[in-house]
Amino acid sequence: EKGGYDHFMLKEIFEQPITIADSLRGRLMANEAQIILSGIDDIKDKLMAARRVIIVACGTSWHAGLVAEYVIEELCRINVEVEYASEFRYRNPIIDSDDVIFAISQSGETADTLVALERAKEQGATIFGIVNVVGSSIARISHAGCYTHAGPEIGVASTKAYTAQLAVLMMIALKVAKDKGTISEERFGNLCHELNQIPEKVQWVLDNEVDNIKAIAYKYKDAHDMLFLGRGYNFPTALEGALKLKEISYIHAEGYPAAEMKHGPIALVDDQLPVVFIASKDAYHEKIVSNIQEIKARKGMVISVVSEGDEITPNISNDVMRVPNVDEVIAPLLTVVPLQLLSYYIGVYRGLDVDKPRNLAKSVTVE
Ligand code: M6R
Repeated sequence: EKGGYDHFMLKEIFEQPITIADSLRGRLMANEAQIILSGIDDIKDKLMAARRVIIVACGTSWHAGLVAEYVIEELCRINVEVEYASEFRYRNPIIDSDDVIFAISQSGETADTLVALERAKEQGATIFGIVNVVGSSIARISHAGCYTHAGPEIGVASTKAYTAQLAVLMMIALKVAKDKGTISEERFGNLCHELNQIPEKVQWVLDNEVDNIKAIAYKYKDAHDMLFLGRGYNFPTALEGALKLKEISYIHAEGYPAAEMKHGPIALVDDQLPVVFIASKDAYHEKIVSNIQEIKARKGMVISVVSEGDEITPNISNDVMRVPNVDEVIAPLLTVVPLQLLSYYIGVYRGLDVDKPRNLAKSVTVE
């Protein structure tokens, strides 16, 4: 049932070219520059009139929500708030019937998310579910939605469910932007094309980078702490990389926006601290290069996720993990893959049960 892989987590990481394609299938028509999402059509009037979208989720699904905040605000010019379900449900949030809530959940059974949605629904909000498990509780209480189609995810660490969530959220952002007229025809067409190419670009990483990532994992497997830093669209990727590492390897890790480092965390940097930079080519690339130099100046060990063909970042990094070039908006779908592999191999080299890390359950149905 693991299809020849040692663990479900590895199988699920390797399935991503297929699962992402499954999420896009029948929805993204890149050649015709068209996106069909009937769930979004169902709430179109609400969405067009909404003052804001509130995203409610936990864990990795919350990270997908954070990516969506960056993408929806940029492309659709709609205000987005991303909420931890556990906080949202208890703090008596201000919700009204104009609000549209995007609920993101792999299992569709996460207790905090479910209760937060029930409360918001009582107050008149429109609930849109982005859920993997068909017929799950969150899918059922949603007014409309869009399944992620990643297939069953067995490993406790979310991998293919996350990239499927991102694929769906990207399509939603693109479709709404087109409907609202906040994106040019040309940019829309280009981003559809870029999104359509993601399965083969993920495949490229799996075909070309695994041996390199294994060697990096072996080198850093005994670290006590790691920092993950990214900016812009890749800031949530830093958080996700850190969460994956914590779960699978029990190494303490933190994700931060790269520029926040100098407001505190830089005090941690010494020659024992590996710092992972998500440094794929984007509008902030020069800035992240200077953040890398700040770490190097303090003798930190730098592992960078870089775009193929980048000749600058590898020279100032101790180790690099390469990804194909990709538009910055779509990049989170790709840059997370080396981080999933890094955590997986570090967990394996530490002799841990990567499919069932201690203290964790696949779905958290208690608060
Ligand atoms: O099923 P859900 O997406 O609602 O689960 C949310 C989190 O419990 C989940 O993403 C958790 O953080 C994963 N173990 C992360 O790998």
